[in-house]
Amino acid sequence: MMVFSSPSSHRFLGSLLLPLLLLPADAALESRPPGPVVPRPRHVDGHTGLASATDKLTRALEGALAGDIEAGWPVENTSFSIGLVMHDQEDKAVPVWEYHHLAAGSTNGTQHISRDSQYLIGSISKVISDYILLLSGLDLDESIATFLPELAAEESRIAWGNITLRHLANQVAGIPPNYGFSEYYYLKEYFESLGFPHLGDSAYAQCGIIGLNGGCTREQFLRGMVESYPVTQPSERPVYSNIAFTLLMFAVEERTGKSYSELLETYFSGPLGLSNTVVSPGDDDKAVIPPVDNSWGSDYGINAPGGGLVSSLSDLSIFVHGILGRTVFDSDTAVREWLKPTSSTGSLYSLVGTPWEIYRTQDLTPDHPHVVDIYAKGGSAYGYQAQLAVLDEYGAGVVLLTAGSALASGPIYDAVLATLVPALDEIAREQAVDRGYAGMFIDGASCSPSSSSLASKDANGSVAFNITVVQDGDSLVLQGVERNGTDILASFQDIWSVTVGGFLAFKPSTARIFPVDIRSEDLISGLDGAKQRVIREDWRVEWDVALNGATDLPGAGLSAGNYLGWMLTDWMYYGSESIDRVVFVLDAESEEVVGLEIPYLRSGVLRPVKTL
Ligand SMILES: *[C@@H]1O[C@H](CO)[C@@H](O)[C@H](O)[C@H]1NC(C)=O
Ligand SMILES: *[C@@H]1O[C@H](CO)[C@@H](O)[C@H](O)[C@H]1NC(C)=O
Ligand SMILES: *[C@@H]1O[C@H](CO)[C@@H](O)[C@H](O)[C@H]1NC(C)=O
Ligand SMILES: *[C@@H]1O[C@H](CO)[C@@H](O)[C@H](O)[C@H]1NC(C)=O
Ligand SMILES: *[C@@H]1O[C@H](CO)[C@@H](O)[C@H](O)[C@H]1NC(C)=O
Ligand SMILES: *[C@@H]1O[C@H](CO)[C@@H](O)[C@H](O)[C@H]1NC(C)=O
Repeated sequence: MMVFSSPSSHRFLGSLLLPLLLLPADAALESRPPGPVVPRPRHVDGHTGLASATDKLTRALEGALAGDIEAGWPVENTSFSIGLVMHDQEDKAVPVWEYHHLAAGSTNGTQHISRDSQYLIGSISKVISDYILLLSGLDLDESIATFLPELAAEESRIAWGNITLRHLANQVAGIPPNYGFSEYYYLKEYFESLGFPHLGDSAYAQCGIIGLNGGCTREQFLRGMVESYPVTQPSERPVYSNIAFTLLMFAVEERTGKSYSELLETYFSGPLGLSNTVVSPGDDDKAVIPPVDNSWGSDYGINAPGGGLVSSLSDLSIFVHGILGRTVFDSDTAVREWLKPTSSTGSLYSLVGTPWEIYRTQDLTPDHPHVVDIYAKGGSAYGYQAQLAVLDEYGAGVVLLTAGSALASGPIYDAVLATLVPALDEIAREQAVDRGYAGMFIDGASCSPSSSSLASKDANGSVAFNITVVQDGDSLVLQGVERNGTDILASFQDIWSVTVGGFLAFKPSTARIFPVDIRSEDLISGLDGAKQRVIREDWRVEWDVALNGATDLPGAGLSAGNYLGWMLTDWMYYGSESIDRVVFVLDAESEEVVGLEIPYLRSGVLRPVKTL
């Protein structure tokens, strides 16, 4: 069956879509575009679903602190602050839920722990340094050696001229993690007792070695960079590096003439209105200081950009709120771009960004399994552990700051995610129904005059529409699309077979719909004839597909896990309108659904049938 006229388009489509041949039946959410399944939950503060989750979490934490259940960390020595940040929280500095615990043994530092208490945040500093870099306007594709000509020395072991700011910011420069700090000089005798050779002090670097010498000056450090070995080639694989951030901030300092402290104030703390984020040392009176050995009060010197910042839950709440609201950069595109992976690891579930540690898990929402991307950054300083996580799909973030045992942050972080994320997922699904996304939508022409702005409305006015959207356990589903008594959805298997069917060995089954982050304001005639301000919100159909045919050849189904549905988005048109585009019409104030439009059918705005 030849539907396309041009043979070259055949070949193009064939090669593009061939891997789709083995897509599994009923893949549900294993094959879906990334991003939210339903719109982000809103106004979760005070929602009973969240309240019962936070109660459960609070009881678990209190049980652990009281010794009723195994905490997994020495509770008497560990203080912590937790916050759940939401995109629409009333006060951006005040998480919708927070929990603080001051360890019994914590006699130094603050005795009144709160969201404004200061902690060392370790490597979360890298997120802030990358943020400063991105705002600084430097060309990320320039070589670091352009800014620091010392690195271009003939004898350099590392090809610094080939390492760009972007490589450094993304942890793919292939350079060492540290300079000097990786030595355990103070354990020298222990190593020797294990059979390591005795070395004179001259075998060690001139600076940065605990127990041997002081912190590096800029000159010593750059000299050390010339002598350091590469770990791998640039852009080959992620290799975690603290010194990458020292180098990056040297470059920004070079270009702007500002010190790291000044950069922090100019680009971060100042514009965001943060009062607790500073280069260590912080304020002893506001500090959470654990009763175990710790590095509170340390001067991190040139290592500060990689791990030497102090911050608070309130400050990080403001920052995460700005990321979720896409306001931390001039353009929301820049924020979206920042939240993308830039390299992968040997694990299916771990990706790396700028400098995000991205964990993709299907285990967070057991009742509605789907991949959730967690854009996170961990941080460690001696006596401190921290976690910052952005769950963009839910418009949510988690900030966890701990002081004391290094054993505490892992279990607390997992407990927070495992308790709160399923609740947010449930609330989002429930709100999708409550806000009217699921329901029956019929021709509105009989009850309201057609708006002049609705050019697609069938001018003949005699066509009846009846569209049904339901929510199953996975997502919203377009269940019925009836035009003048004819079931349009039922035609899709045939439509596919006469159009793309020559190249695709599967057929569409369930028409799932997902929001795609396209919204625009409009004015339409309301049911009472008055003008109504609305938001048009684009969604796209993503078909579950069922495989035609079977094979006895080896490897059957091997490529089934490879999601390629994104290649078909917006593929087929009917009279200049994509047949996978559906548009929800929301009241601009309440954001309740007041209509649905199927542009390719020229449905006009169909009105929800009120269910009593
Ligand atoms: C906790 O601190 C106390 C002193 O306050 C100390 O005796 C104990 O060893 C510490 N426990 C751990 C597990 O660090
Ligand atoms: C570095 O870049 C130069 C110029 O592009 C190239 O000739 C050279 O092969 C590169 N060196 C390495 C080690 O990649
Ligand atoms: C409190 O700080 C002082 C001075 O730094 C130190 O000597 C002392 O050990 C600290 N106390 C605890 C319980 O950590
Ligand atoms: C209305 O009907 C006429 C005649 O059948 C047709 O030519 C025209 O395209 C229709 N208008 C719309 C908007 O469908
Ligand atoms: C829609 O159906 C009605 C009733 O069957 C019929 O009168 C009308 O002509 C149909 N409209 C179109 C555009 O097919
Ligand atoms: C619309 O379609 C649904 C499901 O197909 C049906 O139950 C309902 O009666 C229809 N409503 C109207 C007004 O046609």
